Amino acid sequence: MDRIVIQGGAELSGAIPIAGAKNACLTLMPATLLSDEPLTLTNAPRLSDIRTMTELLQSLGAEVTALNDGKVIAMSSHKANNHVAHYDIVRKMRASNLVLGPLLARHHRAEVSLPGGCAIGARPMDLHITALEAMGATIELRDGYLHAEAQGGLKGAEITLDFASVGATENTVMAATLAKGTTVLQNAAREPEIVDLVKCLRAMGAEIEGEGTSTITIEGVERLHGATHPVVTDRIELGTYMLAPAITGGEVELLGGRLDLVESFVAKLDEAGIDVSETPRGLMVKRSNGRVRAVNVVTEPFPGFPTDLQAQMMALMCTADGVSVLEEKIFENRFMHAPELVRMGADIDVQGGHATVTGVDKLRGAPVMATDLRASVSLILAALAAEGETVVNRVYHLDRGYEHVVAKLAGVGARIERVHGDV
Ligand code: UD1
Repeated sequence: MDRIVIQGGAELSGAIPIAGAKNACLTLMPATLLSDEPLTLTNAPRLSDIRTMTELLQSLGAEVTALNDGKVIAMSSHKANNHVAHYDIVRKMRASNLVLGPLLARHHRAEVSLPGGCAIGARPMDLHITALEAMGATIELRDGYLHAEAQGGLKGAEITLDFASVGATENTVMAATLAKGTTVLQNAAREPEIVDLVKCLRAMGAEIEGEGTSTITIEGVERLHGATHPVVTDRIELGTYMLAPAITGGEVELLGGRLDLVESFVAKLDEAGIDVSETPRGLMVKRSNGRVRAVNVVTEPFPGFPTDLQAQMMALMCTADGVSVLEEKIFENRFMHAPELVRMGADIDVQGGHATVTGVDKLRGAPVMATDLRASVSLILAALAAEGETVVNRVYHLDRGYEHVVAKLAGVGARIERVHGDV
């Protein structure tokens, strides 16, 4: 299995290009199932999660072709007639559940394996199910699969989500595009990836209003047509690389970065003493001198501080001046990076959903591994600042969500390489 080896201590300078958003692309791809005509995505990230979604859509009968070195994904579902999403693919990635809404809308039936437990918490699908049932679907759990049916098609409904779930909002909005009548979704998630999905669906002929607010209204149409859509910038990749110069010192420009995607995160960087400014090409992040200040963080749905940046922010707080408390309110088990950071010399005390980090002068390199994507990248960030060598194992987590992570960081002066094979 590959490893990433980092010699810490190098100050960073230069520019890092930010890719299209993994989480947007993973919801835009299933939208192909809603139409007979081609859907083409540009600015797609090159990631193993995208390959998993490709495999899933192909198993449903869709044609999916990666063009331009994977940056363009050309899809067509004119022959897609299978409505069973098998466990073998779904178990690899929870976002596979995003085919449920489109399959129900188009074929009026779907069998989708439950994704099962996940390293960062239980992640059930009750909100997706309740919303689709409100639209007339009957859904039963049998043999580990959700068996969903909507005889005569889905119908518009008034739905209020108990929690502003990203995935439940995406499945409901996609399903409602082809339902009969109007769907009003209250307490909808407001994430930029949902705004991006709605833009794409609108380009396909859907009638939707209110994306980016808590109330989304969808007027069902007879059919959707083809479209070409550019995937929005990855705000989590953006935030992750913004933390690289923050943690090592130096100055890095994030090409394609946008302030509106990371406002609450930038507010925390500002509090910590990191400079962020807009440039014609994106965002510039600079840490001049001295230690960063400890800040407290609470993860919340957008526009709050993203849970997907909590682990990386913790890496920064490990060497901050003072004590910071990070509170995780989205997932119940998302501090698995803490014990690994402690092995690098950090002082962290986890109690339930709170992690108290007392900043230390220096982290030290160590062999580490992590059990999820964002945790893995937080260890890379910590390693950039640590004294000596860090070896990050289980690199396949990183490949799920960060394209060319080694080349991007080496390009701004980090001493980082990928080593193939077993130790
Ligand atoms: C998406 C993102 C993920 C991010 C998360 C929160 C994708 C592919 N993934 O995941 O990177 O961390 O948003 O910003 O876009 N929940 C329920 N019942 C449900 C659905 C969710 O209880 O039916 C709970 C989950 O267990 C979790 C919380 O709601 O505790 C948030 O989940 P949700 O917003 O649905 O996240 P995902 O769409 O899975």
